[in-house]
Amino acid sequence: MEVPIRATGILGFTFFSLLFFICTSSPLHNLFISNAERRIDATSHIVKVYLTLKVENAGSTPTSEVLLAFPPTRVDHLATVEALVTKGKRKKTTLVRLDVKPTELPDAPNGAKYFTIYLANPLNSGESTTLEVLYLFTHSLEPFPAEIGQSESQLVHYRDSALILSPYHIKQQTTFIKTPSSKVESFTRVEPTNRAGTEIKYGPYEDRPPYSFSPILIHFENNSPFPVVEELVREVEISHWGNLQVTEQYTLVHGGARHKGVFSRVDFQSRPTLSGASSLRHLLARLPPRVHSVYYRDEIGNISSSHLRTDSRKSELEIEPRYPLFGGWKATFVIGYGLPLQDFLFESSDDRRYLNFTFGCPLLETVVDKLTVKVVLPEGSKDPSAVVPFPVDQHLETKYSYLDVVGRTVVVVEKKNLVPVQNSHFQVYYTFKPIFMLAEPLMLASAFFLFFVACVAYLHIDLSIPMLSVRGVNIRYGCAKIKPISKCVSDMKETKLSDPADPPAMNDSSNRSLGG
Ligand SMILES: *[C@@H]1O[C@H](CO)[C@@H](O)[C@H](O)[C@H]1NC(C)=O
Ligand SMILES: *[C@@H]1O[C@H](CO)[C@@H](O)[C@H](O)[C@H]1NC(C)=O
Repeated sequence: MEVPIRATGILGFTFFSLLFFICTSSPLHNLFISNAERRIDATSHIVKVYLTLKVENAGSTPTSEVLLAFPPTRVDHLATVEALVTKGKRKKTTLVRLDVKPTELPDAPNGAKYFTIYLANPLNSGESTTLEVLYLFTHSLEPFPAEIGQSESQLVHYRDSALILSPYHIKQQTTFIKTPSSKVESFTRVEPTNRAGTEIKYGPYEDRPPYSFSPILIHFENNSPFPVVEELVREVEISHWGNLQVTEQYTLVHGGARHKGVFSRVDFQSRPTLSGASSLRHLLARLPPRVHSVYYRDEIGNISSSHLRTDSRKSELEIEPRYPLFGGWKATFVIGYGLPLQDFLFESSDDRRYLNFTFGCPLLETVVDKLTVKVVLPEGSKDPSAVVPFPVDQHLETKYSYLDVVGRTVVVVEKKNLVPVQNSHFQVYYTFKPIFMLAEPLMLASAFFLFFVACVAYLHIDLSIPMLSVRGVNIRYGCAKIKPISKCVSDMKETKLSDPADPPAMNDSSNRSLGG
C-alpha cells in the first residue's frame, strides 16, 4: 500500500518541478553554483550567516539576477540580507554592495521565499562571479531547557539544513557552524560531519540538485544574554533654535531561558561567573558625537549607573539596569539626549530642508521587535516626506506642545524585526518658511503686551469703582509682578489706605506686602 502512494508522490513531484521549470524557464535557471561556502556564527543571539557563492552562467543569454531561497519558517526571523561582489583583480579588489530585494515567485516549492540579488554588470554566457552574502536571523536560538536556575548554564537548540537551500544546482558546498564554547550536547550528523573545538563542519557535499534540504539540529551552550527590545519609540524633535532632542523609550526583555526559582543576590555577587552567567548586566549604546544633556531614567527616577565616554567620532553610553535581567525579566527605561542641529539638518538642492539621522536602535547586539521613529518637525513645516532605505510603514500625526497653534507635524516610521546592522541613515525632507521662526517670539511678545495692557486697564477700572478690598489685593499682586508700574502702585496705596470700606486687618497685610 505504501509503495504506490510514494510512487505517485514522486511522480507528482517530478511533474510539479517540470511544470515549475517550464513556467519559469527564464535565464535564471541557466545558472548554477560551482562552489558554495557557508559560515554560520551562532555565538550571540543574532545568528549571522556568511555565504560565499561562485555563480556560473551555463546558458546562452546574459543574466543579471541571482536568487536566494529561504524556508518559509525562517523568513519571519530574517532581519537583513546584504550582498557584495568583489571588483578588480588580485590585490586591488574592492567590495561593491548590490541591490537585494524580496521577490515573489509563483509555485515556489514548499512555500520557499526568495530574495533577488541584482548584479551590477550582467553575467555573460560562460562567465562566473563570486558573491558575498550576509544575512542575519533573530529569535533563531531556542532555549532548551526553556527554564533554568540561577546557577545553570543556558543551552539552546539551533535548527537549519546541512545543505544550502537554493533554486540552483550546487556542485560543491561546505557549511561551518561556530558555537560560543566547545560545550556541544549533540548535533545531527549528515556525513561527512566533523567537529573540532567550537566549530562543526558539514560537507563537502558534491552535486546537489535544486531545493535539496537536510534538516539538522544542534544543541549547545550559549551563555550570552539575549537582549530583546520588544518595543522602542524614538522621538526626534527638531528645533530651529539649534537643538535636536532625542527621547528613546525602551521595553527591554531578556529573551533567553526563563529564570526558575528565587533570585539570590548574595550568590550572584559572590560568584559572578557561575551564578547568572547568562544574565544581562549592562548594555552599550552608541550615540552620535557632541551629544549633551544625556539622561537615563525609569519610572522610579534617575538611574545613576551610567557612564558616558565621548570622543570626536562617537559617544558611548554604558547603562546598567536597576537589577540584573534574567531570562524572561523585563525593564522599561528612557534615554534622552540633545544634539547640535547643524550636524543633522541640511538644505537640499531644491531648497527644502532635510534631517539625516540614524534609523535603528543605538543599543549594540540587541534585537528590536518593533521600532517606531517619530520625527517632530517645527511648527509651520510643509510637505514632509521620509526616505528610508528599506520597506517601512509610514504615516503622519500632529503633536501639540507649548505655544503651538496649529500643532507640529510628526512623521512616523515603523519597522518590525531589526538588528543593529541596519543602523543606516534615513532622511526626512520638508519645507519651512523662515518667517515661521518669528511666530513664537512674536506670540510671546504680544502675550506680554496684552497682559500689560490688561493690567493697566484693570487698574483704571478699579479706580473708578469704589469697593472691594479683595480685588485690591489681587491688583497689588499683579502690579508687584510688573515692576515698572511703580506709579500705579503708589497711586493704589493711597486709594486703599483712604478707603473707609476696607477692614483694618486687610490693610495691614497689604501694606506689609507692598513694603517688602
Ligand atoms: C542623573 O544621573 C546622572 C549621573 O549618571 C547625573 O549626571 C545627572 O545630573 C542626574 N540627573 C538628575 C536630574 O538627577
Ligand atoms: C547621511 O549621513 C551619513 C553619515 O554621515 C552619510 O554617509 C550620508 O551620505 C548622509 N545622507 C545624505 C542624504 O545626506
